[in-house]
Amino acid sequence: MVLACKQGDARAGLAARRRQARVARGRPGGDRLVLAEGRAVIVTIDGPAGAGKTSAARELARRLGFEFLDTGAMYRAVTLAALRRGVDLADPQAVAELARSLHIELHGSRILLEGEDVSHAIRTAEITRLTHFAADNPAVREHLVQLQRQAAAQGNFVTEGRDQGTVVFPEAECKFFLTASPQERARRRQLDLAARGDWRPLDEVLADQNLRDQRDASRPVGPLRQAADAVVIVTDGLTPEQVVERLEQLVRERL
Ligand code: C5P
Repeated sequence: MVLACKQGDARAGLAARRRQARVARGRPGGDRLVLAEGRAVIVTIDGPAGAGKTSAARELARRLGFEFLDTGAMYRAVTLAALRRGVDLADPQAVAELARSLHIELHGSRILLEGEDVSHAIRTAEITRLTHFAADNPAVREHLVQLQRQAAAQGNFVTEGRDQGTVVFPEAECKFFLTASPQERARRRQLDLAARGDWRPLDEVLADQNLRDQRDASRPVGPLRQAADAVVIVTDGLTPEQVVERLEQLVRERL
């Protein structure tokens, strides 16, 4: 499914696009969630890097029968496009213009940039390090937030990022803030990088992460912040499976 397109590819009306619940069972562990006809649901998962948001959001969406929206991938894709085209990331206007011109498609965990699958290319350490330029750019954020809202108008979604419960979907039915200690998050990130053939010392990973945390929390537009009505889940000592179980249970209790 195409979730985000060039500016101007406006989607049809929200009501027409909202998916309807089809299966009338709601036990935890797999069945599509029961929803009143025509009602669409947004579940937001925000939190710092390395808290396990992406895998938890993807699996939660699968269990609920919802779509999954990885908003960090969109900022990463803009960064990759800027690098490839020689656009100066430090030039806010040029990056915003570029962002508005791009055709970005999200298909669950796959992301296409101008039709090319860049799901792996956007996950390099270089892109991770440089994405703050796009994320700190208010005009880029405005555009991507608009795309995120258009995407979510198409059905029931689990969205994941930094500003989903606070800025993008303040009316979301279920909001979560996933976090973990800096050391635990850095350890996970180190494993993640190593699995992709990029081994780094833990103190280096931790230093990069601290910088990202500080940038994420202090940006004037769309900073990382816990929504007042978000449920906080500290994932230290929990397996990914346990995190998803908890999220699923809370969503099903609330809807
Ligand atoms: O979540 P992920 O690490 O893929 O996000 C990449 C970068 O994009 C983050 O460092 C963060 O600064 C930024 N981001 C953001 N707002 C979002 C999602 C990600 O600013 N909603």
